[in-house]
Amino acid sequence: MATNRTFTMIKPDAVAEGHTGSITKLIEEAGFRIVALRKTRLTPDRAGEFYAVHRERGFYPDLVRYMASGAIVPMILEKENAVADFRKLIGATNPANAEAGTIRQLFAKSIEANAIHGSDSDENAAVEGNFFFAATEQF
Ligand code: CMP
Repeated sequence: MATNRTFTMIKPDAVAEGHTGSITKLIEEAGFRIVALRKTRLTPDRAGEFYAVHRERGFYPDLVRYMASGAIVPMILEKENAVADFRKLIGATNPANAEAGTIRQLFAKSIEANAIHGSDSDENAAVEGNFFFAATEQF
């Protein structure tokens, strides 16, 4: 399998509680190379744009509010089979269903404050990575 990329962001709950280092360590130990990384904050408009695919869902207004509530740490990651392997590493969206040892099982508080995002396809990984990082910031 060719080396490829995925996109992730550590969400406001996990950043605020000081889990950025622990989560980044798990990501690197699982064999992902960090291509780009920043600490930043989304405005409600930018959070709404990032999650636009969910705008018809009942949870969208709360999700936008939550994602704009504090600092986040977006990253682009590289590894063979990156998208699928990363989704395995983070576990199910709802932490109640996340397998033992996954990032969400370890750090998520609820289905909304679920510690971390992971792209669901190669195509979305590219779109989401480019949402945060210029080509010149990707190493
Ligand atoms: P994420 O993988 O970043 O993609 C969409 C986010 O919406 C999801 O993680 C959750 O944080 C949030 N969310 C809140 N409620 C739900 C829900 N009922 N189903 C799916 N996602 C939800």
